[in-house]
Amino acid sequence: MAKLQNLLSSVKRKEGVATQSQPAISEQSESPVRHLAIIMDGNGRWATQRHLPRLAGHKAGVNALRRLVECAADEHIEMLSVYAFSTENWGRPRAEVEGLMRLFWETIRSDLEKLHRDGVRLRHLGRLYDLSPDLQKAVRDSVELTRNNTRIGLNVCFNYGGRAELVDAIRQIIADGRQPDTITEELISSYLYTRDLPDPDMVIRTAGEMRVSNFLLWQSAYSEYYATPTLWPDFGREDLLEALESYQQRHRRFGRLDVSSTGNQA
Ligand code: FPP
Repeated sequence: MAKLQNLLSSVKRKEGVATQSQPAISEQSESPVRHLAIIMDGNGRWATQRHLPRLAGHKAGVNALRRLVECAADEHIEMLSVYAFSTENWGRPRAEVEGLMRLFWETIRSDLEKLHRDGVRLRHLGRLYDLSPDLQKAVRDSVELTRNNTRIGLNVCFNYGGRAELVDAIRQIIADGRQPDTITEELISSYLYTRDLPDPDMVIRTAGEMRVSNFLLWQSAYSEYYATPTLWPDFGREDLLEALESYQQRHRRFGRLDVSSTGNQA
């Protein structure tokens, strides 16, 4: 199947050259999505609609994630960051929290070999130390096993919170004795869980909600947001392609003016 990202980029490039009177597109809007972040919302509603327990929705969510990794790799997306369990999710009923913990552990056990074979590089973003020792070990081992894989990165945000991440970074910055005049944006970025990762180009939220929900707060400062009513367990290739198409229509300016508005590229 034609790779939508490459196709759309090349069409845009041709349009830009052929019609000089049209507004020039900003440089970044031609770029493909390298890093896609997803707030996987709607598992509970999906289950409720089917008169199933909420955990059945989360299980269906894992299937959607399996599909997404494949489709994203096909589209040459370099990495995915998925919000699987937030620092606030501890406040859900105990049975659901335990179910999500178990599901993460079981998914690692059942899928790790295949993910490794498929060239997926796993990484965990979040507070690992609050998870059970078994789960911590399973996460560490899976990250270690897959660390040299290059097909696609999958960053699982589990026990992740954007504010907690900043708290952890600030604590470490102080512990390292950094002086106030050495604190820069680059330095703070280098203390985040995502320290060596590019910022997400796009954040998708499913299930029609319009909230950031404490997800990659620092990193998504200039990410393009995309909301879809599709519930996460139903999210498939078509939904991904629609989101990528929408991204290609955006003009990323990072707070600056468009090249076309200024007449120069400064
Ligand atoms: C939000 O939907 C989803 C979650 C809190 C969990 C997301 C988890 C998965 C997709 C599966 C687990 C992932 C791994 C890697 C094991 P919701 O429950 O808030 O849905 P609702 O808003 O419809 O109730």
